[in-house]
Amino acid sequence: MQTRVLTGITTTGTPHLGNYVGAIRPAVKASRHADVDAFFFLADYHALIKSDDAARIERSRLEIAATWLAAGLDPARVTFYRQSDIPEIPELTWFLTCVTAKGLLNRAHAYKAAVDRNGEIGEDPDAGVTAGLYMYPVLMAADILAFDAHKVPVGRDQIQHIEMARDIGQRFNHIYGRDFFVLPEVVIEEQVATLPGLDGRKMSKSYDNTVPLFAGGAKALREAIMRIVTDSRAPGEAKDPDSSSLYTIFRAFADEAESAAFRQSLLDGIGWGEAKQRLFERIETDVAPMRERYEALIAKPDEIEAILRDGAAKARAIASPKLAAIRDSIGLRAMGSTPAAKSNKTAAAKGGKAPRFASFRDGATGFRFRLFAADGEELLLSMPFADPKAGGALQQRIRQLGHAAVLREDGEALVLELDGEAVARTPQAGDELLSRLREALEQLAAQD
Ligand code: TRP
Repeated sequence: MQTRVLTGITTTGTPHLGNYVGAIRPAVKASRHADVDAFFFLADYHALIKSDDAARIERSRLEIAATWLAAGLDPARVTFYRQSDIPEIPELTWFLTCVTAKGLLNRAHAYKAAVDRNGEIGEDPDAGVTAGLYMYPVLMAADILAFDAHKVPVGRDQIQHIEMARDIGQRFNHIYGRDFFVLPEVVIEEQVATLPGLDGRKMSKSYDNTVPLFAGGAKALREAIMRIVTDSRAPGEAKDPDSSSLYTIFRAFADEAESAAFRQSLLDGIGWGEAKQRLFERIETDVAPMRERYEALIAKPDEIEAILRDGAAKARAIASPKLAAIRDSIGLRAMGSTPAAKSNKTAAAKGGKAPRFASFRDGATGFRFRLFAADGEELLLSMPFADPKAGGALQQRIRQLGHAAVLREDGEALVLELDGEAVARTPQAGDELLSRLREALEQLAAQD
């Protein structure tokens, strides 16, 4: 079973060494696991909440996309896209907004901190607070729920947002009486290093103490490293590795043996200047080949654009049928089309005709099944199974899905997914078939 892992990157800054070690490198590595279906997106709608500097957002989107690709993110394996290319996200944001308690948003840390700051300086509580900041958690919930993500890796400051996404998703499920959404779980990467910055505090844009990852090339990297604060011990005096930022940063790049050698040099009294040069060289070994890819990408923004558009198409293949089903069940169905429950009753009245499964032998060792509509049209063909019992269990689960069914467009067909795995395909694609399949799944769920 594949786990869908999703995370967003707000496009307001330029990636630094701390972002690379703390977020980019571990995420790229995790995305290569066979059991992970990874979704990464540029959260450029969230960026608008933080910044109204258009040029900055534009530059940051390009730099962040190029950075992730240069760091080894494989767009053929993962789904890599821009939030603003997915119209289903703002659409879902509104649907979720309408079930979200205002009181829940009043308690969001970022909003509360802004109100508290205003209180301290005797301002109106909401001075300078946009409705965008207030709604931030709902937009984030839509990012996650639109794709039925199981796991969301984030920094500690985002835990509350994931909890709110669960709350909001659960409330929506409850109100409309179906499991529309998977409730996401937060993942906090405990073992991932946080790097100290130039002044020894955590490396962060807000402290203005960062070491650039690619910006300014090797020269800027070296210059920043030379500015890292050290104590005043002279060359020849023993240095304490455990209180030195240089050693902490070195270890984030080097293996055990290299780190031990660096540690020994510090204990032996290497001068700070020389230690910084060694640190620079060690980082440069990892960064130089990525920087080369980064520069090649930045020089061809059209290629990045094409990659992101492909990613958006992949992402929308999931979000768009999901939103269509949600619209249907919240009262925004096309007029004249019959609600499932009613047509189900009519079908039953007409002699119990309902969608049905049919299993058959496929080759010497396998089994498959088909799902037919009440009128006999073939809607789904399952993947093969070695064990007929597994096929039966799967049919049982499909019976219960109803609106919660995850359908993804895949070339010439629609694919039904369970737990991130394709379990059945339609004979062809098309809106007509999609709505027939949706209807059949709803009928099955209503019977169940
Ligand atoms: N708010 C997140 C941050 O600032 C970025 C983000 C937006 C996100 N949407 C998301 C992260 C959805 C995870 C899932 O870090």
